[in-house]
Amino acid sequence: MNITIETSKALAFLPAGAMASIKDETQRALAALTDGTSLGADFLGWLRLPEGITPEFLADIQATAQTLCERCDAIVVAGIGGSYLGARAVIEALKNQFEDLSPRILFAGNNISEDYLAELQDYLRGKRFGIINISKSGTTTETALAFRLLRAQCEEQMGKEEARHVIVAITDAVRGAARTTADKEGYKSYVIPDNVGGRFSVLTPVGLLPIACAGFDVEALVRGAQEMQQLALTAPFEENPALQYAALRNLLYRSGKKIEILANYQPKLHYIAEWWKQLYGESEGKGGKGIFPASVDLTTDLHSMGQWIQDGERTIFETVLSVETPEREVRVPSDDENLDGLNFLAGRRVDEVNKNAELGTQLAHIDGGVPCLRIVLPRLTEHYIGALLYFFEVGCGVSGNLLGVNPFDQPGVESYKRNMFALLGKPGYEAESQAIRQRLA
Ligand code: PA5
Repeated sequence: MNITIETSKALAFLPAGAMASIKDETQRALAALTDGTSLGADFLGWLRLPEGITPEFLADIQATAQTLCERCDAIVVAGIGGSYLGARAVIEALKNQFEDLSPRILFAGNNISEDYLAELQDYLRGKRFGIINISKSGTTTETALAFRLLRAQCEEQMGKEEARHVIVAITDAVRGAARTTADKEGYKSYVIPDNVGGRFSVLTPVGLLPIACAGFDVEALVRGAQEMQQLALTAPFEENPALQYAALRNLLYRSGKKIEILANYQPKLHYIAEWWKQLYGESEGKGGKGIFPASVDLTTDLHSMGQWIQDGERTIFETVLSVETPEREVRVPSDDENLDGLNFLAGRRVDEVNKNAELGTQLAHIDGGVPCLRIVLPRLTEHYIGALLYFFEVGCGVSGNLLGVNPFDQPGVESYKRNMFALLGKPGYEAESQAIRQRLA
């Protein structure tokens, strides 16, 4: 059993034969990835990454994680975008929602909030903590700023020698400040392969080391991804969930549905949606094109965004991420007084209520003119999450090719950086600085 996709509630909004009409194009889009002719082909290292992960490599990751866990009460993962979201998504999906991990895994370098950093520094004061500094370019401002502060605190609290044991760098093999610092200080380091872009890097040390530090089974995660790699790269169109997903979302986009809302019914999946938004948003939103990836946590957001989804502008479709079997069992108790009128549910599982909320919502949304896809994970385990990550990655690569964009670059993200550096007076940005001053005058 693997991840499956249900398409009928979306196909109902398209002309008969729509999927057949896009089948060849979708297969060509996959072939562009597998034969290396895709736009951005220098960044296809993620495609066969799962099959290349060796037991020796995983043992090394686990040994580093063990060192960090033994020496630290908290581990701060410093990184932003693809250098952080994958790890956070997997950890949040697997961890108990009410218990802290030991050591605690914290995230920094994904914003520039002074209060955030001050509160983090306060929390870490007096604690044994380590840092996993993740940046492919090694120069990202958010991450570099957090790392500068945290490294100084770590060295001050733990001593420079101990800090060398608890700071790990994950970065480029030769380029960037993170590499220079790691080599100079003698930190343990891992390389992000040149041909794997940030948002496709969750199955490299970028994701695997923090996930191993959190105590989760990276071998099972990788096995799940390997199984999905086999399925997604070889199964025929009709039996290939990744191709079905890529094809259907493009058909819907071409029919005027410009926004995809990823809906989950498990709070634990919140960060999977954040990772998915980055993966698809940064890969597809370019050249004036691209489906806008949005997300909701249901049923929570039915009491906020539900009105818009049901009744707002009809430019959306919904992809429900559904977990077939929960890990835990809770049944609704019977109550003699039945003041809340819930005795009709007595003895039934909470998940039955949730699943009926999901189905009822899908039917309501269809009535409201929203095509609905459903992606089903058998369980929320390392294995299926690994499969899901790869499923979305290959779906994204195929989808970007169907859209006619390079899914592996992100030229647009440089604009804010240029302005910020010019405003802050970074050396080398004098001309931009002057132009901005004139613009703001
Ligand atoms: O997917 C991407 O390439 C980006 O989101 C990057 O991951 C993000 O900008 C962080 O870059 P870096 O790892 O170079 O610090």
